[in-house]
Amino acid sequence: KKIVLAYSGGLDTSAIIPWLKENYGCEVVAFAADVGQGDEELEGLHEKAIASGASECHIVDLKEEFVSEYIFPTITTGAVYEGEYLLGTSMARPVIAKAQVEIARKVGADALCHGCTGKGNDQVRFESTFAALAPDLTVIAPWREWDMVSREDLLAYLAERNIATTASATKIYSRDANAWHISHEGGELEDPWQEPTKQVWTMTVDPEDAPDAPERVTLSFNEGKLTHVDGEALSPYQALVKLNTVAAAHGVGRIDIVENRLVGMKSRGCYETPGGTVLLKAYKALETMVLDKAALKYREQIGLEFSHVMYDGRWFTALNDALLAGAASFAKKVTGDIVVKLYKGQATVTQRRSPNSLYSEDFATFGADDVYDQKHAEGFIRLFSLSSRIEALKNQG
Ligand code: ARG
Ligand code: SIN
Repeated sequence: KKIVLAYSGGLDTSAIIPWLKENYGCEVVAFAADVGQGDEELEGLHEKAIASGASECHIVDLKEEFVSEYIFPTITTGAVYEGEYLLGTSMARPVIAKAQVEIARKVGADALCHGCTGKGNDQVRFESTFAALAPDLTVIAPWREWDMVSREDLLAYLAERNIATTASATKIYSRDANAWHISHEGGELEDPWQEPTKQVWTMTVDPEDAPDAPERVTLSFNEGKLTHVDGEALSPYQALVKLNTVAAAHGVGRIDIVENRLVGMKSRGCYETPGGTVLLKAYKALETMVLDKAALKYREQIGLEFSHVMYDGRWFTALNDALLAGAASFAKKVTGDIVVKLYKGQATVTQRRSPNSLYSEDFATFGADDVYDQKHAEGFIRLFSLSSRIEALKNQG
């Protein structure tokens, strides 16, 4: 009997290790994913897992895979959940859960465990990935089984077993960080009438304190992939890190929203996605240069559908594959440069160019040109509006 636990080193997953050993009489292998959440979260994690009773701890670096195989494809769909949320937590779940399954295979485990509460989206995302990749493995979700309900309960549970923890009884927010974003939920944010205080935000400078001078950043794309930032060739992860640094300094990428969770209730969350906000804006601006009206409309439909597929944890499905294939086809044209101006919380596209551009000053001009004869417009409008004319004539009697 061996269980692989998705371990973060936080209070919940620290308590889960002894709980699994006591309640399932099994060996617990800790697994942690590095998805760019930062060194503070990963530091000393191995020792901590062993001190809590894990037999092994595997820390897997997924940073490049996360950005190139999950984030970049999601960008090509243009997906934004409910018009606001850039899906930062959602995108990380399939890559983490997939790596967890791989560790389970490697160590010959027969069960998988996660520390998600029984009330959120993450449990669905983890377990949908487990279902798709490892239907034979048992899934254990302690939060749905044990009768501990509070941080005090968890702290008491660890204290009884002499397991040290740096966690305190008051942890205000539930946060989830990775290379793309950080989310903040819980605490006083549960009151939607309560404005977030300064201590909520951790990744970006307050726009009110941002520099008085704007800064411009140039993003270069090749077939839908970000390849250069300010002319510097960078790996997907490194490019995102660089965008995060410049955008965060100008307070770009904060949102405060109420969203519909998959499991039915609404929740209030504050999110910081500095680099991602700039990247998505630039990508969409480049699309406007290279996709025609019908193509862009269809790409928007893909994005709407995909936002729910991603949010709802349906990454390893046929629908997901089809949507990504469609988006990838449009993305082949997305090559060129975009300049984004950053200023006090705002990211504004100010310059764009592409070898695939369908935009032509010669055609758009109100001066003379040779592809557009204004006389042709008369016949076009006549036919385009013919059904309205027929109905109006009929109503006139
Ligand atoms: N509400 C967001 C989502 O469902 C963020 C969830 C944050 N998860 C967490 N474990 N703190 O994607
Ligand atoms: C959790 O419930 O574990 C975090 C929030 C969410 O999954 O939506």
